[in-house]
Order: sequence, then C-alpha cells, then structure tokens
Amino acid sequence: MRLVPRSDRGRLLLAVGGTLAIVLPLGWMWKTSLLPDTYDLAEMGYADYGGGPEASGSGAHGHHHGTAVANLVETRPGPPDQDVTLTVRDDGERITLNGTSPGPTLRFEQGELVEVTLVNESVADGATLHWHGVDVPNAMDGVAGVTQDAVMPGESFVYRFVADQVGPYWYHSHQVSHEQVRRGLLGALVVQASPEPDVVAVLHQYDAVPTLNGEPGGTVAPAEAGDTLRVRVVNTDNALTALWVTGAPYVVAAVDGTDLHEPAPVTDRSLGVTAGGRVDLWITVPEAGARVDFGGTTALVLGVDPAGDVPPQPHEFVDLLSYGTPTSTGLDASAADRVFDYSIGRRLGFLDGVPGLWWTINGHLFPNVPMFMVEEGDVVVMRIENDSGESHPMHLHGHHALVLSRDGVTSTGSPWWVDSLEVDTGETWQIAFLADNPGIWMDHCHNLPHAADGLVAHLMYDGVSSSFRVGDDGGNQPE
Ligand code: C2O
Ligand code: CU
Repeated sequence: MRLVPRSDRGRLLLAVGGTLAIVLPLGWMWKTSLLPDTYDLAEMGYADYGGGPEASGSGAHGHHHGTAVANLVETRPGPPDQDVTLTVRDDGERITLNGTSPGPTLRFEQGELVEVTLVNESVADGATLHWHGVDVPNAMDGVAGVTQDAVMPGESFVYRFVADQVGPYWYHSHQVSHEQVRRGLLGALVVQASPEPDVVAVLHQYDAVPTLNGEPGGTVAPAEAGDTLRVRVVNTDNALTALWVTGAPYVVAAVDGTDLHEPAPVTDRSLGVTAGGRVDLWITVPEAGARVDFGGTTALVLGVDPAGDVPPQPHEFVDLLSYGTPTSTGLDASAADRVFDYSIGRRLGFLDGVPGLWWTINGHLFPNVPMFMVEEGDVVVMRIENDSGESHPMHLHGHHALVLSRDGVTSTGSPWWVDSLEVDTGETWQIAFLADNPGIWMDHCHNLPHAADGLVAHLMYDGVSSSFRVGDDGGNQPE
C-alpha cells in the first residue's frame, strides 16, 4: 500500500522542495545576520569609494597599517584653558551629570583648549561623551567601540580639544545611546567668539514628558524690553520639533552653529528643529514680552508672557533652502572627488538573528552596509534619499556639510551648513563637505532607536584604522 498516491507524490515533493527553498535561504540569511561577539567595524560591510580612486592598498578591509584612531588627538600642547569634570551617575530613573540632567551647560570661548574629564560613578553599561556637532579630533569623538572603549564604573576618560567652532552644541553618551540619551546623559555646550546675551533652551523628553532645560512646561528667562537675545535651541529628542514665536518677530540667526547670511525676520511661520540639531533665534523682546513655543508642549517666555495659553502654530514652515541670501562658501561641490549614495529603505530580514522590518542602506541591512571611503582633502557630495516610510534626522560626525538641494531644487538662500539634517520620507537631498578631519566617523540616524535598529553607516579615511571593537564581549555598544 502506498502512503502517498502516485499522483500526490509530485505535489508532496514540490511542497517539500518549496519549503526547503524558503527555509534554507531564510536559515542562511538568519545565520549570516548574526553579529560576532566582538568585531572591528571596518571589517563589516563593504568599501564604497564613491567613484573616486581606491585606497592605496589600505581600504576598509586591508587597514593593517596607517594611522590608528587613538592617535588622532588634539595636537596643541600645554595646559588647558578650561578644565571640567563631569561625573555620571545612574540614579535608577535618570542618568545625571554632576547631579543634574540635563548636565551643566559648558561655556567656552572660541579658541580655548579644553579638557573635560568624564568620571563614571555608577552607569553599569559604561558611558562616553560625544560632542555632537563639534568637529573634534577623531580620538575625542566618544563613540564606544570605534574611537574609545566605554568608560566603565570607577573609570574616567579625558577629552581634550580646541573649541574653535562657535555656536550651540551638545554632548551625550555614545554608549547604548538610544537608552542613555533618553535617560538624560546629555547637556549643552556653547562656544562664543564674543559675549552676546543668550538663552539656552535644551529640549528633552523624559519618559515621554517634554521638558525645557529639565522643566516640564518650560521656563521664564528674565529679559528687559528692548533686549535682543540669542535663543539657542538644542533638540536632544528623537524627532523634529516645531517652534513658533508669539509677541515678536524672530530671525533664524544660525543653524547647527553656523550663522546664516542675511536672514530675514519671520512673523508668520514655524521653524522645524531637526532631532540632534540646533537653531539660534534672534528675538528683540517687546514691552509685552515674547514667547517661544516648542511643539505646543513647552515654552520659553522672555520677560513677560504675551500669550498665556498655547498660542496656535502657524501652518507653514520656514524653508531654509530659500531663507536668507547666498554668499560664497569656499566649497566647490561641482569639483567633487567622490559622490556617495546614502539611500534609506526598509525591508523584511534579520538583524543579528532577529526577524523584522529593518532599515536598509543602499539595499543592505546592517552590518553589511557601505563604508564610505575618502582621502583627506576630498570634496565629497552625498545624496541622501529616503524611501523608508519614516523621517530620519541624519547626523554625520566630525564634519559640517553644505546643503545643495532637496528633490532637485537647488538652494537659493543662505549657505546652510548642517551636522543634522531632517530627511523626510520621499525626499532626496544633496549635501557636500570637505573631508578635512581624518578618522572613522559615524553617519547615522539620530532617531536613536532607529540607529539601534541598524540605520548606521561610517565615513572612513584611507589608512585609518581602529583598535577598538564593538560587540557584547568587549562591552562596547555605540547605539
Ligand atoms: Cu549625537 Cu552619533 O550622535
Ligand atoms: Cu531614523
């Protein structure tokens, strides 16, 4: 007696074959997605030369000579002009710095040599400090497993760099950052060339409670009628925030630390602040006061409150692509040495053995993503395309990039330099930068859970290598 009638055998074979045809590749995909216990980031993924010359025998996978990341330090000798210690502590709910979160606002004068000592009192996973937007020497960039080892409880690490870029920045941990930043391991940093009255507004959500400088609801800054204040907004959250001003016009003085050229007063528009990004507003405080609202959840009152309840948000946003007027930048993007694509998508697959709908870069899942290879002095154009269904605030470490165009529309406004750029789904942006800061630099989404889910690539200079390793065993988990 046949168990399976002849006529059904074929079907059974087909079914078995079909199942194997699905299961075997899935098994293979699962297995190849597993991350090693520790790994050298530069050995993952593939080298992308962006159409430029390939490295002189020391590309992403042959980097056993050249400069070590750890040697890319500040070269100015001598004692620091400023010397700060930040002690981080896990208080169960928040992670504090010198007892507060946000941590203290660090203020430096342009050109000062600074040393910041990170002391880890009790953050069990270890911690680092990344100077978001400050183009520090690579060894000072604070990325666990790439530029240093995480600083474990009882340990310390000294960051040393020259504060040569003016503007508002922020510092945060780049160890298990999606968790540590959310829990408050962050603070603001302001570098000034000359004294100018300013107010710093650090936006951060603690357990989904929006705060301004740590205060739910917001704060009042003392101001006299007639004062012109530079309001420095630092968005430390994972999503774009809209701001609008009631009681006075505002001028967008700077974005990500760089002053805009001939910015005009704005009266009837909101401004989007990219996650991780900063904007400076100039506001002249009228007799009746002025008020800056952030997303309708927190507000900064300057002097007296002219509005009371949450004033309505204007419908339209300032478009920085056409705001202000053009002027020369010193960067000729038409002479690009390399052109990279950073195309963001999403698909089913495995990330470290876990099935899911994961972010892709140029069609690949982390860690099989491009390593953007450059040589010092290259002019680089990057085309960031997002077709993933969600917005991504893209952040390049160690460099500032000039926005060239959005969806094929060229910038007609002020030169607009960014370190954090909101790339909405359906959009394509072109940016350009000068590769003038050797090292291995993250280029990732600053919606930090997205980064933890693989939306991370790196920019790597020819001949630079890292002796640090990412992975469970070594304890380094930058995302
Ligand atoms: Cu604000 Cu890679 O970080
Ligand atoms: Cu994202």
